[in-house]
Amino acid sequence: MFQPQLVLLREGTDTSQGKPQLVSNINACINIVDTVRTTLGPCGMDKLIHNGREVNISNDGATIMNLLEIVHPAAKCLVDIAKAQDNEVGDGTTSVVILAGEFLKEAKQCVEDGIAPQVIIKAYRTALAEASKVLESLSVPFSSQNVSNKELLQRCAQTALNSKLINTEREFFGKMAVDAVSALDQDLDLDMIGIKKVTGGSMRDSILIDGVAFKKTFSYAGFEQQRKKFDNPKVLLLNVELELKAEKDNAEVRVKDPKQYQSIVDAEWKIIYEKLEKCVASGAQIVLSKLPIGDLATQYFADRDIFCAGRVAPDDLQRVVLATGGVVQSTTSNIPASALGDCTLFEERQIGNERYNFFTGCKNSKTATIILRGGAQQFIDEADRSLHDAICIVKRALKTGSVVGGGGAIEMEISKALRDYSRRIRGKEQMVIGGFARALEIIPRQLAENAGHDSTDVLNKLRQKHYVAEGDAGRWFGVDIMNGGICNTFETFVWEPTLVKRNALASATEAACLILSIDETVKNAESDAAKKEAAGRGRGGAGMPLSKSGMGGMFAGAPGVSKMKGKAGRTSWEITQRA
Ligand SMILES: Nc1ncnc2c1ncn2[C@@H]1O[C@H](COP(=O)(O)OP(=O)(O)OP(=O)(O)O)[C@@H](O)[C@H]1O
Ligand SMILES: [Mg+2]
Repeated sequence: MFQPQLVLLREGTDTSQGKPQLVSNINACINIVDTVRTTLGPCGMDKLIHNGREVNISNDGATIMNLLEIVHPAAKCLVDIAKAQDNEVGDGTTSVVILAGEFLKEAKQCVEDGIAPQVIIKAYRTALAEASKVLESLSVPFSSQNVSNKELLQRCAQTALNSKLINTEREFFGKMAVDAVSALDQDLDLDMIGIKKVTGGSMRDSILIDGVAFKKTFSYAGFEQQRKKFDNPKVLLLNVELELKAEKDNAEVRVKDPKQYQSIVDAEWKIIYEKLEKCVASGAQIVLSKLPIGDLATQYFADRDIFCAGRVAPDDLQRVVLATGGVVQSTTSNIPASALGDCTLFEERQIGNERYNFFTGCKNSKTATIILRGGAQQFIDEADRSLHDAICIVKRALKTGSVVGGGGAIEMEISKALRDYSRRIRGKEQMVIGGFARALEIIPRQLAENAGHDSTDVLNKLRQKHYVAEGDAGRWFGVDIMNGGICNTFETFVWEPTLVKRNALASATEAACLILSIDETVKNAESDAAKKEAAGRGRGGAGMPLSKSGMGGMFAGAPGVSKMKGKAGRTSWEITQRA
């Protein structure tokens, strides 16, 4: 009998499903992971990413994943977890991607052996719960160490910096990161640490300012006459424009007599002079404004020995508020004395080729500024990203208050615990959890490989140490990057905040589970058609071609006509005729 054909999806829709689809997704992810694999650890290499215009050199997992512009729908998940790790913790972005890749590799084996993805997902979640428990029990609280907090934090920061371009100066920058975070208040809002970049000089010329520094803003005539150094100045912060308005640009004023025009100009001058007088009367020696400060005001202030800067960036002004204790005023009337900020020294100084305004010696400073120096722009950009990792690590370490040994030690220990755990359960899950445990070993293996050591040899030594040693003697053994072989990384101060590892494990498992839960990809042709339509509409509107089909483009913007577009010239022509 003749069967009627059932059409469910649009013509051109592409679907692929089942096991091959799952395996293809996993393969795509593994391919991406292979790109970032080599950047892990102190001896990891950097990547140069060139998009035709810009060149970026980076070791940071999140930055690389972002710059790769991945289009594979499943592999995009990896970009998201790297970003999430970057936002949540700041460091460990390479680890999270590598772990997710390895979890998927193990899962692929299981899928090929005929284990259902649902079983794998369930087992992975169980393994994660168990791993988190082990991690908590292994973490070492700050209080149990008999060294000062600052030193502890510096060690964590240095571990984060170990793998970066600026690792030769890790002590210098580690200290800088800790000092910068210590300057903040309880919230530890990292936006309050300003990082400025000035090319030229060496890395060691980078400075941390216990206050604020920002690049000299655009200035008008009269600026040269202003003093550039004040001791204990009062700082007035404004959100007021101190500039003469060209009224002819703003409004239409009709006058019959030139004298009337003069009166308008006079009124204008009177208003601005009143504002300026009030600023001077407030007793401030420094006037900063978010809005422009024009040439009249600049000269006026210069004559009264006051320094001024207009168009100060909002984040810089916010930092000045926090550093000096002033309050931003949106009017110049009745400025209370308490609204003025103060600092010990204000100075304009030359840094490289730039002039910078410095506010230092602020009593209750809750902000800090780092000025990074270095040769090439790409180098400073990477230094900025690295320092950001270190600063985030210090913040996280402060918040969680506990650390674990790095260099693969913690991964080995969790792997051991999971292997033991898997032996106690029956069924297919045992195999899957065993795979999860094996996947964790990728961190020490990759660290050793990237350092040019024999990874199999190192891993065998590590396994033996972790399994055989009595009690917790072997617990913190990880990869000895410098000499090859293994060492107690906790004793060599390769410390990482517990939160970094907790988050990395959770994100990597979630990403793996997400990809395992996809068994079908449907590619709808509509998205392509919509894109073309949008592009066509844009062209028609802008260029207004005179061809028949072009008229369709012109009419496409009119309500009710846009649907006609795309049916070649004929329909459009009809409309034009009627119009
Ligand atoms: N001196 C060291 N010896 C051994 N291992 C180290 C040492 N310093 C850092 N590591 C290890 O290197 C790994 C971190 O490498 P890396 O900083 O390249 O990647 P990430 O932190 O995962 O990602 P990213 O920094 O790109 O966000 C951690 O596992 C850490 O324990
Ligand atoms: Mg790192």
